[in-house]
Amino acid sequence: MLIKRHRGWEIPESNATPEAIFLDRRALIGGAAGLAAGSLIGGRAWAAVESGSYPAPRNESYTLDRAVTPERFSGDYNNFYEFGMSKTVLPAANALKTSPWTLKIDGLVEKPFEVGVDDLIRKIGLEERLYRHRCVEAWSMAVPWTGFPLSKLVALAKPTSGAKYIRFETFMDKAMAPGQRVFYYPWPYTEGLTLAEAGNDLAFVVTGVYGKPLPNQFGAPIRIAVPWKYGFKSAKSIVKVSFTADRPKTFWEGLQSSEYGFWANVNPAVPHPRWSQASERVLGSDQRVPTLIYNGYGEQVAGLYKGLEGERLFV
Ligand code: MTE
Repeated sequence: MLIKRHRGWEIPESNATPEAIFLDRRALIGGAAGLAAGSLIGGRAWAAVESGSYPAPRNESYTLDRAVTPERFSGDYNNFYEFGMSKTVLPAANALKTSPWTLKIDGLVEKPFEVGVDDLIRKIGLEERLYRHRCVEAWSMAVPWTGFPLSKLVALAKPTSGAKYIRFETFMDKAMAPGQRVFYYPWPYTEGLTLAEAGNDLAFVVTGVYGKPLPNQFGAPIRIAVPWKYGFKSAKSIVKVSFTADRPKTFWEGLQSSEYGFWANVNPAVPHPRWSQASERVLGSDQRVPTLIYNGYGEQVAGLYKGLEGERLFV
């Protein structure tokens, strides 16, 4: 996204996976999911499901003000620099081997451990949420992610009292991911949040989308979704989650800190040094819509930033 020489605002129309497939599946499982959810916990019709049970019950607390972006657009317009700098990374991302996949939990935790993604899903369970996603490049989409709250992973990790931040690290494998051979990027891709941010209800660990396990180009088999921040905060294909006392250095910050900071909260009033953030183009349409502060999630997250007004919260 930083690279001036790459634009790629066009949306290739090839590789269409009809949205109808997703919608039909949802309609079919709607009744079953309701039954599976069993009890309504605080009005939330969702429940943990066994690994592999896609689509997962939808958590109706997370709704959208816009239509879900058809997969034929969101699934063929991706940022995944490990597999190239164009938006059409889908063919290259086929090389990503996602099974078996182990997540390492380390740093300031009671006891570091490793866990297979399937075991993790079985342990925690899955739910579906409809989230907006706003890229720093001023395009956006609305997607049905499947996963679990990041706070549940934090609870499992048992951070010690010195832990203040959480750092995500993507796999590193130059043979599999040709983008990682590009020497001027600070591989592997890393991102970070404060523990307070990680504990916010909206911070989500994602293992699926459109009612099925994540296709590779979306960051299979496990990624993050932090919908009130620019999309680059949502690291893909994570292999390591570390708890730290110090603020982690992130991939884009390492490359160009004047343009991409640690906080990166969405704000239409703070332009990127090279373009406006006032509006966004919704994938699959030519229309621009106004961008909202915190990507519309201010009610849930603005409180996280009380007392931090001196920080570069919106870069
Ligand atoms: N994670 C990794 N490992 N590599 C990347 O290049 N790109 C980021 C983020 N996570 C990226 C990443 C950016 S800039 C965005 S906008 C989102 O992934 C894009 O997610 P999507 O392709 O699923 O829409």
